[in-house]
Parts: sequence; structure tokens; C-alpha cells
Amino acid sequence: MQQKELRFSYEEYASDSELPKADAELLQLAREATVHAYAPYSHFRVGAAARLVNGEIITGTNQENASFPAGICAERTLLSTAASLYPGVPIGTLAISYHNENGISDRPISPCGICRQSLQEFEQRTGRPVRMVLGGETGIIIALERSGLLLPFAFSANELK
Ligand code: THU
Repeated sequence: MQQKELRFSYEEYASDSELPKADAELLQLAREATVHAYAPYSHFRVGAAARLVNGEIITGTNQENASFPAGICAERTLLSTAASLYPGVPIGTLAISYHNENGISDRPISPCGICRQSLQEFEQRTGRPVRMVLGGETGIIIALERSGLLLPFAFSANELK
């Protein structure tokens, strides 16, 4: 038996002013996008904003449904938009923020498990890492060099070959 270990490093910024300018702009767009969320059930509005490698910027929000499982997260809304409007174009950076109508929004959230799965396949199919910038309305911001770091041992298309 061999004991093995997986580690990854990430960046933590104390506030927006510490962030690289391009990341700060994208995070602000993610915050602004939360107004377009449809979250009448959770009251938890999530906004995502991505800068594609071709320079285009797109946003996505969570869209809930009275049949709860039919709802979709902001991240997957955004990935579908990216692949539909700009097929094959990789995402350089993706920022995620939120507005919790029932509480405070002062720390980063990170994508749910299903979105992590979708993000890792987006990276795989476009052949480029997606940098992640995660932040609330205030508070610390976390950045990761690629979204796949959030899903070690991912099941992937390779397994289906
Ligand atoms: N949600 C997202 O859109 N992204 C996340 O990263 C976490 C959760 C949504 C799903 C649901 O509409 C609401 O937030 C509460 O879970």
C-alpha cells in the first residue's frame, strides 16, 4: 500500500482592491448579474460572469422552478450560454457571486457538485483551464487557477472510451 496525497494551492485576497483589475471587473459583473436570477424559492440569487478567450463577456444566473429539480445553477446557465453563442471558445476566467435575500453575502461560495462536473468537462472539451474567482458582495475573495481543482478524481469522458 502506498499512502498518497493530493494538494492544491489557491489565492486568497482580502478585498476587491487587492485583486488583479480584470478579475475585479468580472467579479463586479457577477454581482450585478444577480438581479437577473430567478430565485423565488431559495431567495438565494447567484450570478456568474465569464471572460472568454476571444474577449467576449457573458453572464449567467440561477433559474429556479416550482418543480425544484428543474432549476439550474448560474454556473451551468453560463456554460450553456458560452457553448451556444461561442461554440468551442474557451473561458479564460469565470467569476461567481451571490445575493442572499435571507442573510449576509460576505464570503465566497463555490460551485455545487453538479456544476463542478460540468465545469471540468467544459475545460476538457475546450482544452483550456477556467480560472475561478469566487466572492460575495463583500469580504475575502478566492481565486483558483482551474476549476478542475475542485473535483479531484472526476468521472470524465475518458472513462467512456
Ligand atoms: N446555486 C447556484 O446557482 N450556484 C451555486 O454555486 C450554488 C447554488 C443556486 C441553486 C439554487 O437556485 C440556489 O442557488 C440555492 O441552492
